[in-house]
Amino acid sequence: MKALVYNGPGLGVIEDRPKPVIQAPGDAVVKVLKTTICGTDLHILKGDVASCLPGRVLGHEGVGIIDSIGAGVTAFHAGDHVLISCISSCGKCEYCRRGMYSHCLTGGWILGNTIDGTQAEYVRTPHADTSLYPIPEGADEEALVMLSDILPTGFECGVLNGKVAPGCTVAIVGAGPIGLAALLTAQFYSPAEIIMVDLDDNRLAVARQFGATQTINSSDGKAAAAGMALTEGRGVDTAIEAVGVAATFQLCQDVIAPGGTIANIGVHGHKVDLHLERLWSQNIAITTRLVDTVTTPMLLKTVQSKKLDPSRLITHRFKLAQILEAYDTFGRAADSKALKVIISI
Ligand SMILES: NC(=O)c1ccc[n+]([C@@H]2O[C@H](COP(=O)([O-])OP(=O)(O)OC[C@H]3O[C@@H](n4cnc5c(N)ncnc54)[C@H](O)[C@@H]3O)[C@@H](O)[C@H]2O)c1
Ligand SMILES: [Zn+2]
Ligand SMILES: [Zn+2]
Repeated sequence: MKALVYNGPGLGVIEDRPKPVIQAPGDAVVKVLKTTICGTDLHILKGDVASCLPGRVLGHEGVGIIDSIGAGVTAFHAGDHVLISCISSCGKCEYCRRGMYSHCLTGGWILGNTIDGTQAEYVRTPHADTSLYPIPEGADEEALVMLSDILPTGFECGVLNGKVAPGCTVAIVGAGPIGLAALLTAQFYSPAEIIMVDLDDNRLAVARQFGATQTINSSDGKAAAAGMALTEGRGVDTAIEAVGVAATFQLCQDVIAPGGTIANIGVHGHKVDLHLERLWSQNIAITTRLVDTVTTPMLLKTVQSKKLDPSRLITHRFKLAQILEAYDTFGRAADSKALKVIISI
């Protein structure tokens, strides 16, 4: 089969690989129909993710059809259409029992990281019963690819952790796919204002179409003052950090109102200052989270009932043979205006 393989920093190549086989009773082998590229895949290709070694098939998102199952799989059969979660969970360990699938002792984020992933014709998925989700008949499978990672991430790490509530004021810093996923799912709770912050005017325009009530281009370094002006000097109840750099976490600290919550989503590669000398008396909470994908079944229902339309995040489509072009397009998002790219296998 064809697969996109990480062969060391800067080296993503299409290779011929043997079709994966069942290795444990809980495994399934899934024929991948559609996959996508995540910002994390770009980080791996730069050599920033130490756990992902050369030779790894990349990709942790996708939908497909079950090709074969191990003897212990009871929830799925060959031929079933499934959504592949970016997080694998055994459902039995201490962390899984607490709903923290991302910390599963034999799972977590392993696909396209420590085991071969979904940017291939077939993928082996461990703990299939508790890591795959059935796709309802007639569903828009392309749109459901957005449920493998970005929608649960924006919702769980941003909206739920940030305690977005009716009538509240929210700032989302970063209008990439994750920030936009937080923007879409924050609207389940009818906040009064959602202020979107980014450096890219195109992404801010998309954010307005997706429901942002105000946007701030922070490239002039005055976003904190603009955010305070938009909230009459009060600040925001929820500040969602969806970039992963020191400046954006700083901005969240600068605009948070007393009693507010800073919900960090961004993956931080460098240390960040925490201004407790200003914040200690402000009754704020700061949360962090690796996406658990515990809300995937709920999000699936909101897509089925058309309360949520994740297909709006898809900007480009490619075939597997064009995946290097897809990486290039996704990697030049500011020029190409890419949000999410779909790769059909
Ligand atoms: N916690 C988790 O489980 C989890 C899961 C997936 C992704 N992430 C992380 O979420 C973050 C966002 O992911 P994404 O795919 O949307 O990334 P992305 O790179 O596509 O988007 C980031 C956005 O931030 C903007 N930006 C960059 N610097 C900025 C600044 N100084 N001020 C304002 N905006 C700025 C960029 O213009 C871009 O639109 C990343 O750090 C990613 O690694 C976390
Ligand atoms: Zn991802
Ligand atoms: Zn587990």
